[in-house]
Amino acid sequence: MSDETPEKATPHAGEPGTVAVTVEGKKGAPATYKASLTSEAPKLRIKDLGVTYIDRHGRSTEAVREVSLDILDKPGIGEVVVFLGPSGCGKSTILKSVAGLLPPTRGEVLVEGKPVTGVGRDRGMVFQAYTSFGWLTVRENVEYGLRLRSIPRDERRKLSDKYLKSVGLDEFADHYPKDLSGGMKQRVAIARTLINQPKLVLMDEPFGALDPQTRWGMQSLLLDVSRSEDNTILFVTHDVSEAVYLADTIYVLAPRPTHILHRIDVPFFANRDIGLKSSTEFRNVEKKLLDLLYSPAG
Ligand SMILES: Nc1ncnc2c1ncn2[C@@H]1O[C@H](COP(=O)(O)OP(=O)(O)OP(=O)(O)O)[C@@H](O)[C@H]1O
Ligand SMILES: [Mg+2]
Repeated sequence: MSDETPEKATPHAGEPGTVAVTVEGKKGAPATYKASLTSEAPKLRIKDLGVTYIDRHGRSTEAVREVSLDILDKPGIGEVVVFLGPSGCGKSTILKSVAGLLPPTRGEVLVEGKPVTGVGRDRGMVFQAYTSFGWLTVRENVEYGLRLRSIPRDERRKLSDKYLKSVGLDEFADHYPKDLSGGMKQRVAIARTLINQPKLVLMDEPFGALDPQTRWGMQSLLLDVSRSEDNTILFVTHDVSEAVYLADTIYVLAPRPTHILHRIDVPFFANRDIGLKSSTEFRNVEKKLLDLLYSPAG
């Protein structure tokens, strides 16, 4: 049958000089990931997670099937963990379960040993769609979470100065979102999330709607910011190049109902700058990922 025949890799255009992939319907190398959960309480544990949606007509869609992983805390270091998988596989569903926006059908999510039962300040989410409040200035948007917690004005100001600067928006503090470009709006969302200093930052294809050049800039900015914040970023993408550029660890996800096929530890690149993307070392990791996604199953 044709859908059992491994097809040749057909990367479609992503960023210039990079590869974006659609792995849906393709059969890749056999899964190599086997969950082994530690005995200690990790920063994040996803245990036997399963999510099946039931719509109002009673039809069910199994989105996530048995996802288990541990992300350990690396004190003092920001870490980026990427979920790479095809459109519709269940990436947002996993992230929403971690965020506490969606109760799992099976299994559980634990942050530092505590079961997630709803949204919480220890987790912050940046969505693909721009989510700034149009009636608030950039600074008011960024300070929003602090205001909800009744943090005094002076302290809010100090923190918003810091985070607006870290995303390069200090000169736009008094502007409204409508006056900003897409990349700038996402920087507002990132600052608004980071200012609450969550342990886990959940980013669901946050740069998907940006033009390639802006996207590169945002990737570098994210790496800069993650170096100065001691948090773990869970980043969802379908772009192989973006995954390799950002990640310390990549989980490759299967089409729906999703589960983890592979876990890749990305080698430490001394300089993660834009030139890296055309280096042989970088290309080799990209190629390895593409091979895993597309090579004939054994
Ligand atoms: N609220 C819902 N009700 C019913 N089915 C849903 C709901 N949300 C998602 N699904 C289904 O679950 C599956 C996984 O969806 P999800 O949004 O997690 O995928 P994704 O990997 O994030 O996709 P994309 O890359 O396109 O954002 C899809 O088949 C989708 O149609
Ligand atoms: Mg999604």
